[in-house]
Parts: sequence; C-alpha cells; structure tokens
Amino acid sequence: MKSFPKSFLWGAATSSHQIEGGTHNQWSVWELENAKAKAAQADYHYSEYPMWHAMKAEAKSPVNYVSGKLADHYNRYEEDFELLQKMNMNAYRFSIEWSRIEPKEGSWNAEAIAHYKDYIASLKRRGIEPILTLLHFSLPVWFMEKGGFEHRSNVKHFVRFAERAVAELGKGVKYVITINEPEVYAGESYLYQNWPPARSNKYTFWRVLDNQLYAHKKVYGVLKQMNSRMRIGIAKNSVYFYPGDTAWLSRVSATVMQWAQDDYTLRRVVKQTDFLGLNYYQSSRVFGYRVHNAENIPSSDVDWTITPGDIEYVLQRWHRKYNKPIMITENGVADAADVYRQAWIKETIVALQRAQNDGIQLLGYLHWSLLDNFEWAYGKWPRFGLASIDYSNGVRSLRPSAKWFGGVLKKLRNL
Ligand code: BGC
Repeated sequence: MKSFPKSFLWGAATSSHQIEGGTHNQWSVWELENAKAKAAQADYHYSEYPMWHAMKAEAKSPVNYVSGKLADHYNRYEEDFELLQKMNMNAYRFSIEWSRIEPKEGSWNAEAIAHYKDYIASLKRRGIEPILTLLHFSLPVWFMEKGGFEHRSNVKHFVRFAERAVAELGKGVKYVITINEPEVYAGESYLYQNWPPARSNKYTFWRVLDNQLYAHKKVYGVLKQMNSRMRIGIAKNSVYFYPGDTAWLSRVSATVMQWAQDDYTLRRVVKQTDFLGLNYYQSSRVFGYRVHNAENIPSSDVDWTITPGDIEYVLQRWHRKYNKPIMITENGVADAADVYRQAWIKETIVALQRAQNDGIQLLGYLHWSLLDNFEWAYGKWPRFGLASIDYSNGVRSLRPSAKWFGGVLKKLRNL
C-alpha cells in the first residue's frame, strides 16, 4: 500500500453552534421553544436505540435540548487546539458563526471578527491547517425573519457575509467550505420537520436546496476573484446505498436513492468546486424500494449502522463520476462508551489507503468530532467526541480511542 503523502491533512472537525456555547441564532431560539416537547417525546423517538438505558435520563430532560454553554469552546479554544496537537493532527475544520459576525443585518461585530482572527492565528502558530466553513446550519435570526434560503433574493445576504468574512479572516486560509450539507439542511428543516423552522413542503424544500446551491456558486465566484489560489469546496453528506439482493427493484432503488442523494446536488456545483468534501457516517441496505438494514450489523448510539469500510465505495463512485480531489470533511460515530470508535477509525484508514492505491486523490481526513457537541435535534446526549466533555464543569478528556488515534498519526506522519 502507498503511504499517505506528507501534505495529507489529518485532523478533526466541529461547527460553531455545536460547541461554542452562548450563540444566538435560529437554533437557540427554537431550542427554548421546543425543549419541553422534545423531552416529552424522547421515549417515543429513542426507546428502541441500543444505548437507551444509558442515555434515557439525559434524553428525557429538557436541558438536553438547549445548547446553552456547551463546551464553552468560544472561550476555551486554546485548550481544544492543544488536544489537536496531542493527537498529532495537522488540520482542523471549524465554522464561523454568521450570527456573531453580523448580528444585525449589515452591521459587523468587530469583537467577533477579532476573535476569529485570533482563533485562526492560533491554529497557524501550532502548525494546524485551518479549514474554514462559512455556514454550518446555524443562521442569524434576522436572516430567518426574512425567510432565509426560501427566497432567491436573500442569497445576496449570505454572499455579502462570505465576502466580508473572507476579506477579514481569509489571509493564510487555504481551504474554505461554503455550505455544510445543503441537502440535509433543506430536508431536516423543510421536509421532515426535525429542525427549525420545522416545515413540511416539498416545493419549499427544493427551493431552499436550490438557493443554497446557487449561493455556493456565487460565493465561489466572489472568493476566487479575491484569491484565485484559495481552494473552495462544499461539504456533502453521503450514505452508501447498496442492494440487499439481486432483484431488479432493489438494484434500481439503490441506484435511484444514491443518485437523488448525491448527484442531484453534486452535478449542479461540481464545476464550481476545487475539491469535494465528503461527510460519511453510514451505509444502507435496500430491499425492494425500502431501506432494511441487517439485524446483525451493530449500530451506534443514534442507531446508525456501523459500516465504516463502505466509505471506500462512496469514494470510488465520486471519483468515477466527478474526478475531483476529495477531502473527508466529517466521519465518526456516536459512541459514548467508546467501544466502537477505535475499530471505526482503523477500518476507515484502511479504506482510505485502498482508495488512494486506486488512484483517488484524497486531501485529508477530518474526524467528527473533536469534542462532544450539540447534536441538533437529538440535543447533547449523543457523544461523537474524540474528547469527552463533562458538561457539569467543562472538563475535556481524550477518550482512549483518541489517544490510540494520536499514536497512529505519529507513525503515519513519521513524527
Ligand atoms: C453534520 C454534523 C453532525 C453530524 C452527526 C453531520 O451531518 O454536519 O453537524 O453533528 O452529522 O450527526
């Protein structure tokens, strides 16, 4: 097997609203309005999950559904960057919080801008490549009051924010991700009613998706004009769908599901990307026209199948269809007891090596997540962190799998 190039980015990923604490955006407002109801519905939603016995007290409490202080990463980021270094990482993906930088339409918060300048400078000083995401699901309240991405006319607000943010913070930043998982945001917020504004309307869903893809293209153009060497991508979630038998219907359904999930979005933006960001968490077996996963595959705390090796098939498919460099922008497992994470990472590294051997150009691997975080509609109970957070006192500790990963990276990076 070929070894990973020296330039390979090994790191972890986070997003602002999920770890910073103290944010005020469309999520924080919605959380306060819905926490009680969500706690009351926890039994109904999660009681079949493998670790329900261990997490039920947390999941049944309204506190779980309010992000609040979280890991207080906004104030404690230096400590968290030390964790990256302890794990021998050379890259970190994070998002900047639009609602902090532009708290009111057209007014820019100098304190927040200075904060993110220091934040990026600290990463650079530590030899860690910053990978900056402009938008990771959390939107300013004023933007949502105007209808958010429902209206094409609102896209200009995001483009202006992106331009301003990169003008202020972009010096020394080589990799920018415009929007995280636009299709997941549109689906959860405008079809499945899991995320704010919790609407269900197919037409609005398509419009919100379309407007985000349009926004991506616009931002790509603007940022390239500012700095043609900046490498700009989009982060896209991909579940790998495979037929569970040889029946015609299963094969066709798996193909259609994969196409609808990946290609509808990617083919629209691929020309305006320098790399594709892949967020991979699970695969799904299709029988007939439905997903039906095998009973004997273990599943994570959020009941997603644990099939890390299948990332290889997504990589092959994306490479074949789009032939662009790929960065794994998220990948990980909700595993509070830390029983699956080490094997997960190991199988993933083997899959990446095989993909690389097949000629697929990989830029890096960013594990989700550096810290335990606010898992959107689930709240705080799912634990994706390489480092655990004790929410009672803010203490962060690297899990055993993270310490092991750090040792592996030392070898892989020849340190
Ligand atoms: C999102 C993250 C989230 C992760 C695990 C991804 O789709 O980008 O924000 O924490 O999934 O649920």
